[in-house]
Amino acid sequence: MTVLDAKVERLETDEATGYTAFRLGSFTFRRDEYFAHISWPKGNHIIEIDRFLRATVRDIGWGFFYGWIFFDDVFGTTNHYGTVDVFAGSYDKGCKDAGIDHLETFTAEAVSEAFTAISQDWISQGYDPLNAPLETGTPIGPKGPERTDPLLRAFIAADRMLGLPGDKPVRSDASGFPVNRAFADLDFDLPDVECEPGFEGQLHAINLFDHIARSDVTWNPSISAVTRANICCVTSEEHMLPVIHGNDRNEWFIQLSDEIHWNIADKNSGAPRGRIVMKAGDVCAMPADIRHQGFAPKRSMLMVMENGTPGLEQRYASGELKPYPVDFG
Ligand SMILES: [Fe+2]
Repeated sequence: MTVLDAKVERLETDEATGYTAFRLGSFTFRRDEYFAHISWPKGNHIIEIDRFLRATVRDIGWGFFYGWIFFDDVFGTTNHYGTVDVFAGSYDKGCKDAGIDHLETFTAEAVSEAFTAISQDWISQGYDPLNAPLETGTPIGPKGPERTDPLLRAFIAADRMLGLPGDKPVRSDASGFPVNRAFADLDFDLPDVECEPGFEGQLHAINLFDHIARSDVTWNPSISAVTRANICCVTSEEHMLPVIHGNDRNEWFIQLSDEIHWNIADKNSGAPRGRIVMKAGDVCAMPADIRHQGFAPKRSMLMVMENGTPGLEQRYASGELKPYPVDFG
């Protein structure tokens, strides 16, 4: 694998719209009032701007996540944990057959800098791609005043286990995180905690539903609990996952409330493999050889469990491990 020593370049600024074009390696990125236009030596592609920006900020914010992030069927990134592929058509049969597919590998830092520069230039005040569409403005139209607040929600580290003395109240009415409108009908009872003598003050429990209900973002982790390679993320999900995620390992989903519809396809070809509707209490393991996209008609709560063991992606890719975690029967 050749890693290109490239950095993002600013190209011309369009006088009519105010948006600047960018180049990373041989990919160029331009936007107009409605669309992002991506071109490379043998081809070009167009993506609706809201979808492009919602995917871009999450790709940066997730650190390129595990495996493949498809912005749509054609364009996306693959994480090699230190380096990142930027590809167009490399996992799309039509583009492959036409010979216009293209892939370049960069340092993760270079791709992150490029996507950040593009996002900062192309996102104006009044539009937040991390919010649900019903809770933010639109990105269409000419450039407006630049946003001055952080485009990405920084992770807030808890000082202690949530709820124990010494932890700061991360989410509450007082700290500006009201319960989202979609969860206004929930009761948030506090759990009963009964300690054995000698353990008072060391054991605590919170109502996780209360915490997730106050998340102001969608399809972006609200809490991540990391124990060695075990990663547990809870999120609130509304509208559609703005990317199609291609797994490089199993990924466990526990649906905590409401429902999410998932389209599941072959990772390499995009050929449909299944549709599932997960309702509250359902558990599933997304296999390591698929791509998937979720649709949440109403804001819902989802818990995602990942195995972050380094090198796991190679053990799945080589066939050493089966693409699914359990054999039944
Ligand atoms: Fe996934």
